[in-house]
Amino acid sequence: TGSKPLAGQHVLITSGPTHEPIDPVRYIANRSSGKQGHAIAAAAAAAGASVTLVSGPVSLPDPAGVTTIHVESAREMLAAVESALPADIAIFAAAVADWRVADAAPEKMKKGAGGTPALSLVENPDILATIAHRKAGRPACVVGFAAETEHVIEYARAKLAKKGCDLIVANDVGGTGVMGGDANTVHLVTTEGVETWPTLAKDEVANRLIAHIARLAQAPKAN
Ligand code: C5P
Repeated sequence: TGSKPLAGQHVLITSGPTHEPIDPVRYIANRSSGKQGHAIAAAAAAAGASVTLVSGPVSLPDPAGVTTIHVESAREMLAAVESALPADIAIFAAAVADWRVADAAPEKMKKGAGGTPALSLVENPDILATIAHRKAGRPACVVGFAAETEHVIEYARAKLAKKGCDLIVANDVGGTGVMGGDANTVHLVTTEGVETWPTLAKDEVANRLIAHIARLAQAPKAN
């Protein structure tokens, strides 16, 4: 342990929303601010890790001492994540859009003649599941997030299995302004059980999460 428990480790983190283009000036987005993911990147750097942060569009500064790669869409985020591998630890905190517009228009769509446009959507790649299910070059520790408005623990358990990750950080985003806010209430869900933390500032969640992951990374693997 000590003050730099992640010295010598490469930590890869995704953060923020993605923007999915409709045409060159319009996009589909979500309310993620990137505060939690960016705080985790800063905490990992403070713990001595070499950190790559793949960030969607946010209004936050790049964290000091972190290599930050800026992307817009889910597909760009996946490509940047794959280019940043190998990593010892991967933490997927981004709020990736589940769908993108099937055929984004190459020019700005115009009102008038054609009537009201209909958007047809297709599913985006699941970055967390793609990396967690890799046969070769899977990071030893893969962490996902689960933002839910109900049945938080139950859905997180299902997500842990489906996505193939080692830990799900579940948070209740129902009503309380977690998205964009400065505080977070999280539950750490693994196959071993659930650990619930009190409501904490996102910076404090980040510090505790990095300390927790550093302990997991040091513990001998049970298999
Ligand atoms: O399925 P859901 O979006 O609730 O899962 C959330 C987790 O999966 C987060 O860790 C998020 O970063 C990750 N995710 C992803 N790529 C997607 C969708 C979600 O990496 N396309």
